[in-house]
Amino acid sequence: MSKIEIRNVYKIFGDSPSKVLPMVQDGATKEEVLEKTGHTVGLDNVSLSIEEGETFVCMGLSGSGKSTLIRHINRLIDPTSGEVLVEGTNVMDLDQKNLIEFRRHKMSMVFQRFGLFPHKTVIENVGYGLEVQGKTPEERNKIAMEKIESVGLNGFEHQYPNQLSGGMQQRVGLARALATNTNVMLMDEAFSALDPLIRSDMQKQLIDLQSELKKTIVFITHDLDESLRLGDHIGILNGGRLVQVGTPVEIIMNPADDYVKAFVKDVNRAKVLKAKVIMSSTNEANGIDKSNLIKVNEDQFIEEFLPQVVCTNANCEVVDKEGNTKGYITNKELQKSLSKS
Ligand SMILES: Nc1ncnc2c1ncn2[C@@H]1O[C@H](COP(=O)(O)OP(=O)(O)OP(=O)(O)O)[C@@H](O)[C@H]1O
Ligand SMILES: [Mg+2]
Repeated sequence: MSKIEIRNVYKIFGDSPSKVLPMVQDGATKEEVLEKTGHTVGLDNVSLSIEEGETFVCMGLSGSGKSTLIRHINRLIDPTSGEVLVEGTNVMDLDQKNLIEFRRHKMSMVFQRFGLFPHKTVIENVGYGLEVQGKTPEERNKIAMEKIESVGLNGFEHQYPNQLSGGMQQRVGLARALATNTNVMLMDEAFSALDPLIRSDMQKQLIDLQSELKKTIVFITHDLDESLRLGDHIGILNGGRLVQVGTPVEIIMNPADDYVKAFVKDVNRAKVLKAKVIMSSTNEANGIDKSNLIKVNEDQFIEEFLPQVVCTNANCEVVDKEGNTKGYITNKELQKSLSKS
């Protein structure tokens, strides 16, 4: 059983969604539905599974349904049809009391537009989730200060949100989500308002945090590089439809359609593909010329050894941490993996 399961979810916005549902189920596109009925298709038959401890990134153009999807997981939005299960519990079965408990203890959320309380200070905002969890003021201030420091906002703890820049407010939102220490974190464009240096810093922090805590993270972004860096799996939405789910490598190497191709076309493959992904096994590489070999670690990114390979016209021997041979990459294969299909 996966941590989060989304099964055949349709979400239609408008006055009579259930009347419009059959038309969507019959295959009408978002544009057709809008034109004929004035209803907006938010999600169109989306099914996916998210495993415990993974970072699942959801990508797609503006309006493709990303926020709508993530908001189903903590039931800020009810589906028109279909099921959302978290740890096996159908979120539609939760009564008011259980839903509140579920949101307090099971998942935290970083909102696309921060969602801070304007009349609370930074430390009160960050500690809010702990307050509703029933923690004492001492406990929550201690944890809140730790998280404020971890997002680089010490000194600002007694300021109000409107005294902060957008990027700083977003970091408050992030600190608040981290403070409650829930198993599931829903992050809607959590880093998008940050400037590149801080953004890259926050990505690094999230990766470090993840390697330790193994939370289940659903992360939304427009940014392909960010999704490749963070995602164990990436799901791509187009007009409410999930057009592809795969590992970063699967998405880059085998884009499902032109829409996904357009997303990945400018990606620097050398930066995101590791040696182990493109190597041939030792058997397959039988005939390889071993007179001029460069040793590379299986987890090295291509860009780290590419210059050397090109300069010396060598082939690569791929080894693991202990130095055992795992496979080979010929000069030719390397060039091929970098060329865009
Ligand atoms: N409350 C609502 N009422 C009506 N339509 C809505 C509502 N929320 C979303 N929609 C529509 O559903 C579609 C998906 O919206 P959503 O906010 O999920 O997109 P998104 O992928 O998060 O976009 P962005 O990248 O701009 O945040 C859009 O066409 C939008 O107009
Ligand atoms: Mg959105």
